Amino acid sequence: MTTIDERFFKTHPLSLETATQAKDMFPDGVTHDIRYISPFPIYMQSAKDGIKWDIDGNRYIDYVIGHGALILGHGRKEVVDGLSSQIKDGTHLGGSTKQEIQWAKEIMNLVPCAEKVRFVASGTEASLMALRLARAYTGKNKVIKFAYHFHGWHDYLILGEPRGVGGVPDKVAETVVVLEPNIESVERVLQQDDDIACLILEPTGAHGGQLPVPPAFLEALRSLTEQHNVVLIFDEVVTGFRVSKGGAQLRYGVTPDMSTHAKVLAGGLPGGAVVGKKDILDMIQHRGDPKWDSQKRVAHPGTFNANPLSSVAGTAALSIIANEPINERCDVLAERLKSGINDVLIRNEIDGFAYGVSSIVFIGLGIAPEFDSNGICVVPHDKIRKAADPRMVGALRKALLNEGIDTQGGRVWRLSAAHTESNIDDSIGSFEKALDAVRKDGFI
Ligand SMILES: Cc1ncc(COP(=O)(O)O)c(C=O)c1O
Repeated sequence: MTTIDERFFKTHPLSLETATQAKDMFPDGVTHDIRYISPFPIYMQSAKDGIKWDIDGNRYIDYVIGHGALILGHGRKEVVDGLSSQIKDGTHLGGSTKQEIQWAKEIMNLVPCAEKVRFVASGTEASLMALRLARAYTGKNKVIKFAYHFHGWHDYLILGEPRGVGGVPDKVAETVVVLEPNIESVERVLQQDDDIACLILEPTGAHGGQLPVPPAFLEALRSLTEQHNVVLIFDEVVTGFRVSKGGAQLRYGVTPDMSTHAKVLAGGLPGGAVVGKKDILDMIQHRGDPKWDSQKRVAHPGTFNANPLSSVAGTAALSIIANEPINERCDVLAERLKSGINDVLIRNEIDGFAYGVSSIVFIGLGIAPEFDSNGICVVPHDKIRKAADPRMVGALRKALLNEGIDTQGGRVWRLSAAHTESNIDDSIGSFEKALDAVRKDGFI
């Protein structure tokens, strides 16, 4: 057994015991693919600000931060107060509420393309609905997506990454064109195929920018999709309200026809939204014409759409983002983290570097840094992918947990405004210790 695993077993006895029960209950013993850790996952108990504790009492600086949802950190007072009061008034009122109006107002105030809003329950639902709207609006059938860009797990958009595409019908797969993110391939497909309804992408690149795309690519896509009457959709589930108050579309000044949102949108509760051009969103609207309403219209029920708890949490979070320098603070903390990580790598003579737009930090190991004049990492995507030896990344993730740092899969660190400078400095020290353990165990 590696020394990392030995320590992991020793410091997490209650997690091990709990995992033993879960193993026969859930596939892989977990309830989200990314929570799977070999030899067993850790069970979390409580959290406040940028810190969380597991059931063994171990303390972690939390860079998973609600899978990116908690840009304000855990337990932000305004969100908790709003929720406490709403719980007493009812968690589901089975009707329209003023709370959903407030929530939509905050979104329309912040997101440039948001002429209208439709709430859903998750990011997966948001991209599913965006595709349906685009097909109904254009009368065309297919979608272009980019390899490795993630938009949730439904049949259409789970394609394009070796994640497990079992169960996706061939007929559905035929309607999804997966391309490498370069403008030449998009241009070629749009010239040859007049059945493309929409193009969807993560606007900072796959996985929130782990495989970055430059802003000029967004501009080129904007004009190309306009020329071909193709609906341009930004998946801002990760970037929305994070890379700027109004997401990547505000940061880079490129307005899509629609964008999809979740995570930060709902203040740490479940929730999502499709926003965009009025004419497209109004494909959901009844017209009182029986033929339109039954044949052309896009139907959209959903038990938890804009439920009052998500509405109040989302409203509280978005109004704080609108009025306080939350994104700016996260960006400053991210720069401090990146620079500390880079110093550690240089000092220890380990190939690699930290990069990422705004408050999402990625660690690339086994590769040399290459940046363009805008500070966007331009290392070829296949090089970034190949550098990530899964055994080494797994060891790093566990070594970091042993040092009290929880990251998304070892290489993705997301900041919140509740992290402190001393959290960052402590994390840099812990990263150095974790790297040392990974090296001693022979993974580097
Ligand atoms: C860019 C992106 N789109 C969509 C989703 C799916 O969102 P959800 O997990 O809320 O279904 C995710 C989830 O991580 C995501 O990162």
